[in-house]
Amino acid sequence: MVQRVRKAVLPVAGLGTRFLPATKAMPKEMLTVVDRPLIQYAVEECLAAGIDEFVFVTGRNKGAIEDHFDSAYELEATLQQRGKAPELKQARDSALKPGNSVFTRQQQPLGLGHAVWCARPWIGDEPFAVLLPDELTISSPTCTAQLVAAHEKTGGSVIAVMEVPRDQTRSYGIAAVKAEKDGLAEMTGLVEKPKPEDAPSTLAWIGRCVLEAGVFEYLARHETGAGGEIQLTDAMARMIGKRPFHAMRYTGRRYDCGNRMGFLEANVAIALHRSDTAADTRALLDRLLKG
Ligand code: G1P
Repeated sequence: MVQRVRKAVLPVAGLGTRFLPATKAMPKEMLTVVDRPLIQYAVEECLAAGIDEFVFVTGRNKGAIEDHFDSAYELEATLQQRGKAPELKQARDSALKPGNSVFTRQQQPLGLGHAVWCARPWIGDEPFAVLLPDELTISSPTCTAQLVAAHEKTGGSVIAVMEVPRDQTRSYGIAAVKAEKDGLAEMTGLVEKPKPEDAPSTLAWIGRCVLEAGVFEYLARHETGAGGEIQLTDAMARMIGKRPFHAMRYTGRRYDCGNRMGFLEANVAIALHRSDTAADTRALLDRLLKG
């Protein structure tokens, strides 16, 4: 029997230097796409996949994330007094279940692998999801729900991948896979940020996966890889061949909000897709493009 995925690790310790000055006093995960912070998209993606226990691996200056998922007593009381029901619902909906989330600090920026390793006491011995919140994915079912379904079929670990242009392999973990069947392929390797000429394929890991707790054994070695950091992909690569490990081709929409243009694209694209903002956004863009 495959164990159900109940928990997610959200690494949110990064400094967000690509978004300065916006991120000088505010976590990059609180940057807003249309009307909600990036981190809320990742949390809602998990909730839609039946995952409602969260380990946020934070760092200094990330307090706003913790506050966002708490209840905001003064704000809620004021909205209630003023009879602002829809706004009250918006404020309340982002609160997480009592006791279902922990915030732990990665004290040193030693890499994504180290950040995930910091979550080990709360994960224990069960499979868990990892979501990098600066990757925003939109689909129904959600990317994480698709990974959970794939994990129920294959057991072991599953990562979500998408095709990228070969000249971009340096930005991603790149998967080597066997023949694909129904969007799933057994993995034979995973390389962190290879040069285009060394990349085993153009299938990039898009920051979503379900991992077996066994990954902590490899992360505990604290071996450094690309960029002198402890890489999650290196630990995953070590599991391949020993435990079931699959790549799932994700076919939904994905925006890399880790850079300015991707973030801008996410804002425009999501505003164009949402029924409450689509028509106004289209009209706005028409007006702006006509100059
Ligand atoms: C991280 C991972 C990389 C993955 C990417 C997805 O890199 O190390 O394997 O493909 O996220 O966004 P980062 O973007 O943090 O440099």
